[in-house]
Amino acid sequence: MPETSTARLLEVSDLAVHLPTRDGVVKAVDGISYTLNAGETLGIVGESGSGKSVSCLTVLGLINRDSAQISGRVIYDGSDLLEATESELRMVRGNEISMIFQDPFAGLHPLFSVGDQLVEAIRAHEDVKKRVARERVVELLHEVGIPQAAERFSSYPHEYSGGMQQRAMIAMALINNPRILIADEPTTALDVTVQAQILELIEKIKEELSIGVILVTHDLGVVRDVTQNVLVMYAGRIVEHGSTAAVFAEPKHPYTWGLMESIPLLEVETRDLRAIDGAPPSLIHLPTGCAFHPRCTQAFEGCDKARPELDQTEHHQAACHLARTDRDRIWQERRRRPADASR
Ligand SMILES: Nc1ncnc2c1ncn2[C@@H]1O[C@H](COP(=O)(O)OP(=O)(O)OP(=O)(O)O)[C@@H](O)[C@H]1O
Ligand SMILES: [Mg+2]
Repeated sequence: MPETSTARLLEVSDLAVHLPTRDGVVKAVDGISYTLNAGETLGIVGESGSGKSVSCLTVLGLINRDSAQISGRVIYDGSDLLEATESELRMVRGNEISMIFQDPFAGLHPLFSVGDQLVEAIRAHEDVKKRVARERVVELLHEVGIPQAAERFSSYPHEYSGGMQQRAMIAMALINNPRILIADEPTTALDVTVQAQILELIEKIKEELSIGVILVTHDLGVVRDVTQNVLVMYAGRIVEHGSTAAVFAEPKHPYTWGLMESIPLLEVETRDLRAIDGAPPSLIHLPTGCAFHPRCTQAFEGCDKARPELDQTEHHQAACHLARTDRDRIWQERRRRPADASR
């Protein structure tokens, strides 16, 4: 493999983001570690409120550091982004790591044409003539699949469809050749066919440019289709982490089992789909022990006492008190049994 495709781009260690509020401190992210390599798409999946967005925003320095309590390390290019100054972070955000969000319209200014905004984004970081920047923008709009890119240059965001707006946002994110793209639910607001096209586009870009992609999603089907590795988050922590193939073949955490059984996947297509019982916990008053234990169908005495750590294996880890052999056995049984019987 070429060296670029295995280069470590980002190393997050023990990142915690606690947000003081009037009701108490929200432990939005509570000690997560992962690495991202060039040419890799890392999926982050978990229910609403599990800390996916806050963890990504923190990497980019977009969480207010005056009010939030942030600890851990986010190593990019040899230095810790958590220690970076605001102006250093601005350089990183424009040039090195870029982010696209769920709502593409929110990232575009309504009063300027899409093309002009992209030209300005280039010129904010690079001293190039308008004409040159314009040529580059038209080329990029074409690359991200905007039809008649040259004519579309002068259109305003509201003249673009939702899918085209998201393509324009992707163009905006790529304009200064970043090494990392963070996509936070980039397709949630789009209809299914457009979703697939946007995901394909992100994949294509990742391959061509050998960048690293972090893809945040609710959707395990998306994770299976386009990621190489996956983090499963629950209540601000990673409960399972591994190669996508391994996690789908043999999920090791009861929460991941619940996620898999709640969506139509090949593995479990013959059974009824069902949601995970119960609701995610308050991140102010977390359950003792394993935060998932009140909802866990496998919980036993002790799960409410100590907090489980990720087990120490390199390629596929889970944070669960069940013995690994028991987990393997229970999953094998669950995937074979009809839905009702495993309740
Ligand atoms: N600025 C803030 N102040 C206080 N709490 C916050 C703030 N931003 C987020 N939170 C809380 O932090 C927790 C994690 O939020 P986050 O947005 O990261 O969740 P998420 O996993 O991205 O969810 P979703 O799937 O709904 O986007 C939630 O409980 C949220 O209410
Ligand atoms: Mg979010």
